[in-house]
Order: sequence, then structure tokens, then C-alpha cells
Amino acid sequence: MVVLVTGANGQLGQAIKFISGNYPEINFVFCASSELDITNKKNCEEVFHKYKPNYCINAAAYTAVDKAESEPEKAHLTNGIGAKNIAETCKDFNTVLLHISTDFVFDGSQNKPYTELDIPNPTGVYGKTKWEGEKAIQEILNQYFIIRTSWVYSQFGANFMKTMLRLASERDTISVVNDQIGTPTNAIDLADVIIQICKKHSQQPNDQSLFGIYNFSNEGQCSWYDFAKKIFEINNSKIHLIPIPTTSYPTPAKRPAQSVLDKSKIKSVFCVIIGCWEDSLEKNYSNK
Ligand SMILES: NC(=O)c1ccc[n+]([C@@H]2O[C@H](COP(=O)([O-])OP(=O)(O)OC[C@H]3O[C@@H](n4cnc5c(N)ncnc54)[C@H](OP(=O)(O)O)[C@@H]3O)[C@@H](O)[C@H]2O)c1
Repeated sequence: MVVLVTGANGQLGQAIKFISGNYPEINFVFCASSELDITNKKNCEEVFHKYKPNYCINAAAYTAVDKAESEPEKAHLTNGIGAKNIAETCKDFNTVLLHISTDFVFDGSQNKPYTELDIPNPTGVYGKTKWEGEKAIQEILNQYFIIRTSWVYSQFGANFMKTMLRLASERDTISVVNDQIGTPTNAIDLADVIIQICKKHSQQPNDQSLFGIYNFSNEGQCSWYDFAKKIFEINNSKIHLIPIPTTSYPTPAKRPAQSVLDKSKIKSVFCVIIGCWEDSLEKNYSNK
């Protein structure tokens, strides 16, 4: 079973690579953007022709949420056109697509966790282009998994946890917003569940009912302030942490105030057991 991973040098791509040795039955092909540029359809076809993947995990994306506001075309090219190219190539090569999307497709106005049936209404360019990618995939393919996730962190790439640890080494005080609520996701947990989906599908290849959109994050919910507090607690950091409202930390892109994802569907269909975000954050340090 060949599983091709796009965006292999990104945070999720590196997390998948980190645990890939646990799955000797899978032949992983990791393609960094230098080998596979998803905005280039011909490049997609050449790479698929070379490796003939059974599954493609599309971890490639334009993820600079604030920068996207001033570079909408770039975000559209990767998250919209890139996702479309990958979907069309998957269709031509009979490859099952696992595409990663985001809680930022929601506007955050709902006061309960978002299910897969809730209607997206992204407020920023990043979320709009990610939703555009989702819609392109759904138009092109019958065989797809779209996995929406949130607040991804790990020892790899750039993420909130690493930013907090860097700031703690440079400053005495940090202010973090406490009125945006979501759930952190350990990239290793996400990587693992994506591989579980590939494996389950390969055991039941004719089960069309498996396909569709799934939410995945760790369990529980918190604010960015709570997340930072836990990061510093685990690291024995003595930094002075100040909770602030979003209005005191204006950013180019508007973030959802509440983007907790309901995981009932993925838990029931794939029988996954999801750890709570605090435990998974602690586990992250023992993974290193
Ligand atoms: N990080 C989060 O908090 C978060 C939350 C929700 C959803 N997600 C989604 O999760 C997925 C993985 O995110 P991540 O955190 O791993 O992001 P990341 O660290 O920014 O990695 C994205 C990767 O995509 C690659 N890439 C960009 N443009 C490309 C192109 N045209 N062709 C091929 N590769 C390209 C980048 O390559 P270069 O390094 O060469 O530019 C980078 O390695 C994305 O779909 C993202 O939208 C992330």
C-alpha cells in the first residue's frame, strides 16, 4: 500500500514521517514542495505516475493566516487550485484522497461545538480558500476524506506552542487572548488518526459509507490563554502570563471566537480513542 504525503516538510508532514516507522506495512512517499508543487497540475500527474499511490494525504497548504489577507491570490492558488489539482489527479489515478482542512471554515458565532453538518462561513482569506479547496474536492471526487482540524502543534515547524516557548525565553511577560475558544491538536495524534483512516479504508475498500468530512482535534476545550498557561506549566516556565481580550490584540485576519469541533462522527466510524488536550500536550514532551 503506497501512501503519498504532500507538503512533507510542513508540521503535519513531519509528524507523519515521525510515526511512519510504526507502520512497516505502508510504503510512504514523502514529497516536499520542491518535488511536488500542488499548484502545478503537470507536476502532480508526473509524481502520481512515478509512485502510483493508493492514498494521497494532502498536507500541503498556504497556512499563513494573517499574511493571506494581503496575499489572497497566493492562498487561493495553493488552497483552492492546489486542492483541485490534487483531487483531479487522484481521480485520474484512482487514488483515495485524504485532505486536511480547518476549523477556520467556520465563523465562530455558534455557541456549541461544530459538527460536520454545520455550514461553513469563513471570515478570512485563509478560511475562505480552504473551504474553496473542500468544495473543489467534493465536486470532483466521490472517494475522499476531508479531515478538519484545529490549533495544531508539535515539535515540528512553526506553531503556537513553539512561539510561546521562544517568547518565554526572550521576555518576562506575555499577553495572550482568553476569549477565543477552541481545542489544541497534537500533530502526532492527527497523523496517527489519518493513517488509521487509510488502514481502515484499505480493509474495507468497497465501503463507500466511510467517505466524507470528519472533524478531528484532541478532546476538551480552552482559550489560547489556557493553552499558553499549560505550556508554561509543563515547561516550569516562570513567565508572567496576562489574559487579554481579542480587542486588545488586533490581527489582520479575524479568528473564530468559538471553533470547538464535535468529534462524535470520527469516534463512532473509526473507533478512535482521542486523548484530552492537556494529556496530549504533556505526552508531546515525552515524544521528543
Ligand atoms: N497548523 C494549524 O494550526 C492548522 C490548523 C487547522 C488546519 N490545518 C491544516 O493542516 C494542514 C497541515 O498544516 P501544517 O501545520 O502542517 O502547515 P505547515 O507547517 O505550514 O506546512 C504546509 C506545507 O505545505 C507546503 N506547501 C505550501 N505550498 C505548497 C505547494 N504549492 N505545493 C506543495 N507543498 C506546498 C509547505 O512547503 P514549504 O515549506 O516548501 O513552503 C509546507 O511544508 C494544512 O492543510 C492546514 O491548513 C493546520
